Amino acid sequence: MELEVRPVRPEDAPELVDLLNEIIARGGTTALEERFTPEALAEAYLTGSDVICCFVAVDSVSGRLEGFQTLGRYPGLPEDVGDIGTFARIGGAQRGVGSALFAATRAEACRRGLAAINATIRADNTGGLAFYGRMGFADHSVEPAVPLKDGTLVDRICKRFPLDRKAQTT
Ligand SMILES: CC(C)(COP(=O)(O)OP(=O)(O)OC[C@H]1O[C@@H](n2cnc3c(N)ncnc32)[C@H](O)[C@@H]1OP(=O)(O)O)[C@@H](O)C(=O)NCCC(=O)NCCS
Repeated sequence: MELEVRPVRPEDAPELVDLLNEIIARGGTTALEERFTPEALAEAYLTGSDVICCFVAVDSVSGRLEGFQTLGRYPGLPEDVGDIGTFARIGGAQRGVGSALFAATRAEACRRGLAAINATIRADNTGGLAFYGRMGFADHSVEPAVPLKDGTLVDRICKRFPLDRKAQTT
């Protein structure tokens, strides 16, 4: 099976909301805890005004969306630092969804002249931490003891991926 990566389209929202809500319902990874509607997902992560770019990974045989990666502006981050989120379909047969998406996001962030990409990950999300580490993100800072909905305190680890601005002009 082959993966195709392309920019998100407005009509992807219903399929992506199911993919994301399944990850939220399973729990233990993403910091997101409330289910999304397609409209709310589109505004927050797909095509809204704070979205810098968003790519989807498509199984080129079945046409099914296997994941998405969003880069957006986030309060408290410098203007030239984008905030990333990555979501791969639970139980998907595809491997390498996150890394295929990151190649596209990284190239687009460079093209737009961003200085760095920020990832904020729950400290108990070992898979997410390993994924971003493998992509080349380095530890940047810690937001200690951020409460989940049920009151459980979980640190948030911020990792940064620096972009080489000089490389964009050559
Ligand atoms: C984190 C996530 C996006 C990774 O997506 P993925 O498609 O499985 O990632 P890839 O297959 O491209 O993995 C690339 C590398 O990251 C590392 N990695 C990914 N998931 C990992 C895991 N659960 N445990 C350890 N390492 C992991 C591996 O080194 C992997 O390379 P390898 O397969 O050659 O060993 C996916 O597991 C997911 O959607 N998790 C739930 C949502 C979430 O936590 N997102 C991150 C916070 S926004």
